[in-house]
Amino acid sequence: MTPHQLLDGFQARFGAGASIYRAPGRVNLIGEHTDYNDGLVLPAAIEFYCWAAIARRRDRKLAIHSENFHETIEKDLDSLSPPAKKHWTNYPLGVAWALRQAGKPLTGANIYIAGEIPLGSGLSSSAAIEVAVGFALLGNSGHEVDRTELARLCQRAENEFVGARVGIMDQFVSCYGRASHALLVDCRSLEYKYVKLQPDVQLVICNTMVKHELASSEYNARRAECEEGIHLLGEVYPEIRALRDVSLHQLENQRARLSRKVFARCRHVITENARVKSAVEAFGKGNIKDLGTLMQDSHRSLRDDYEVSCKELDLMVEIASAQPGLVGARMTGGGFGGCTINLVEAAAVNDFKRNVAAEYSSRTGLTPEIYVSPASEGVQQIVIED
Ligand code: GLA
Repeated sequence: MTPHQLLDGFQARFGAGASIYRAPGRVNLIGEHTDYNDGLVLPAAIEFYCWAAIARRRDRKLAIHSENFHETIEKDLDSLSPPAKKHWTNYPLGVAWALRQAGKPLTGANIYIAGEIPLGSGLSSSAAIEVAVGFALLGNSGHEVDRTELARLCQRAENEFVGARVGIMDQFVSCYGRASHALLVDCRSLEYKYVKLQPDVQLVICNTMVKHELASSEYNARRAECEEGIHLLGEVYPEIRALRDVSLHQLENQRARLSRKVFARCRHVITENARVKSAVEAFGKGNIKDLGTLMQDSHRSLRDDYEVSCKELDLMVEIASAQPGLVGARMTGGGFGGCTINLVEAAAVNDFKRNVAAEYSSRTGLTPEIYVSPASEGVQQIVIED
């Protein structure tokens, strides 16, 4: 997608000129299922974007066209309410709703949306559409954008309007991503720090091309299991507020209080937070060997303790792990399908792609998509030079 193509699309649908914004999808390098436990995450924005062209309307309507769904809808800005059914419009309308709930005056707008992030692949196409539309609506109405507030409101839109109880990682990195860097986020304080990626190691994303229906119900079940863990541990350690506050030692001491399952879920979250800290140190020292080990351990913990992997993700990681030049591989995102993230030495990337694709196809009958992406900038306005 180029800004000119987007503008052409907008003009054909709505006439006249428009401002252009784009927000990225993401991969998470490490720190999975830790965000809603007040923990640490280390995602990077990628060069796959959701684009939004926007222009003011004189009335109070939002007209939104999706290039991907070939559909236009029109809604009154002042009477938005959470919908009963799943629909792509819930994401952009949810953001308008959340901005209005937060007291932001918005003007009516025509919006043309085009997404290039593969949908349902765990690369956060939903956060990208929320953040692109939120930033565009604020810009169009003349507001300064506070990126942390925008990330929070986009998360609120997804929690309360779309109805998915996600954490804040995806929206936050779509707002704050930076080229050549991963983003360390403390999901309690929302403090963040950029972590420089090594130029000779590339981010390679392998799409298993499966998405299991379990994803959203099991996501909610994991959240509930973490809450149960906190509740039971809180009876002994009243000072803890989230799994973030629990040490492995404390958890092990209370093993008898928890079911086998809840114990394992808590162990994943606690060890994963520690792995994020170690990964940041390893990046700092350029110690890619440790980084690789941490990623493999993260995958095992997600597979065995948190039980959010699936056979296709496990196979993709297994195949990747046998390739020359692989630093580390693990599932990325919520799980139950979607993508793996692989750190691969730059010189080995072409062979890696070819070999992994061939072996995955021959063992599953599925044709995987493999993307190589530098870490990218967060949401921004794109000004077309004449
Ligand atoms: C999804 C959610 C995130 C996060 C991950 C798991 O991507 O949107 O908030 O919980 O799963 O790390």
